[in-house]
Amino acid sequence: MPTDEQILKALEVVIDPELRKSIVELGMVRSIELADDGKVAVIVSLTTAGCPIRNHFETAVAEAVGVLDGVTGVSVSFDVLSDTEKGELQRKLGRGSLPEGALAQVSNVVCIGSGKGGVGKSTITANIAAALAAEGKRVGVLDADVWGYSIPRMFGVTGRPPVSPERKIVPLEAGGVKIMSIGFFVEEDAAVVWRGPMLHKALTQFLEDVEWGELDFLLVDLPPGTGDVSMTLAQLLPQAQFVIVTTPQQTAQKVARRSADMANKVNLEVAGVIENMAGFVTPDGERYQIFGEGGGQELADEIQVPLIAKVPLTMPLREGADAGVPLVVSDPDDPAAQAIRQAARGLIAIFPTELPMLQADLTADSASADGPEPVGMTLPMA
Ligand SMILES: Nc1ncnc2c1ncn2[C@@H]1O[C@H](COP(=O)(O)OP(=O)(O)OP(=O)(O)O)[C@@H](O)[C@H]1O
Ligand SMILES: [Mg+2]
Repeated sequence: MPTDEQILKALEVVIDPELRKSIVELGMVRSIELADDGKVAVIVSLTTAGCPIRNHFETAVAEAVGVLDGVTGVSVSFDVLSDTEKGELQRKLGRGSLPEGALAQVSNVVCIGSGKGGVGKSTITANIAAALAAEGKRVGVLDADVWGYSIPRMFGVTGRPPVSPERKIVPLEAGGVKIMSIGFFVEEDAAVVWRGPMLHKALTQFLEDVEWGELDFLLVDLPPGTGDVSMTLAQLLPQAQFVIVTTPQQTAQKVARRSADMANKVNLEVAGVIENMAGFVTPDGERYQIFGEGGGQELADEIQVPLIAKVPLTMPLREGADAGVPLVVSDPDDPAAQAIRQAARGLIAIFPTELPMLQADLTADSASADGPEPVGMTLPMA
């Protein structure tokens, strides 16, 4: 009579034809039960209930286990992976697990989040995007704040995105930055009510059905908090990285810490912290610490990531956001604009967008018969 381990070992030959890996490696073997009369019952977990390859698994599992000594019969049944398990599976599979789509050509996905609202996520996202574009990077911004979308206003873009002949939604552009937001699809200032599945569908569409094309950076402006949107995106984008925006106060830092915990929980890496509203600089250059001091550095130290920038409060930053022209474009020398440009350069340093070339060279050096790795498919940091 075989042991459970031997049966599991035998199941390693059963390959998921779509994911091209063993169901054991994929964690899809839910349970194995061996009865005294030699009958084995195997439960295989599928990614979706209506999985068309059930028959394949049924036959392959029965064959693999049926040949073991002492086994008199094999029954195969199915259940469905939970959302958490699916997220785990996606993470295991890396980038290849994303449905084929334009996102395959995106080198780095960076989610900008915070535990609480109004700390300047959207302002920072828009300005970092513009600063990255000014550095010659190909940049997109996905406004994932489906309730309080503000990215269109900050870039001064309106209108409905066209649909390409390939039936993809084409992002609108401002200053060389590709932009997508739910705000383009609803009446101005209309409140959008989302139920869970719709929200999931909308976010999935933003990632799969939008013609992002080749991008060095896709910045994702998250809604405040650690709710549904962040969890869903983390699931859809297992290799995305988080940048946490916080204000200098202790309390804000505690809240931001929660979003760092959330990022950890869903296995997203935190790339760094940006402290916003770090002091107010008067036109004469005098500095007031309106929101206290040091919270960003403390949080960065605590979670052991770099403090990417300290962005001061300046009136032009707010005015630029309201007027639809990112300050880094209209006045790159403003102290806030300078800090944000520094943050953009920090991101470029953290996320090596040139890595694919390097990989090709390395492969050539090691004289691999398989040729160079395909470029642009996996995140360099993964
Ligand atoms: N450093 C700054 N100096 C001056 N004004 C700022 C600064 N950062 C943000 N603001 C202003 O503060 C307000 C809130 O910023 P923003 O909308 O970017 O925050 P948010 O974190 O995205 O908010 P929400 O949580 O609602 O999405 C905006 O009016 C913005 O222009
Ligand atoms: Mg916002």
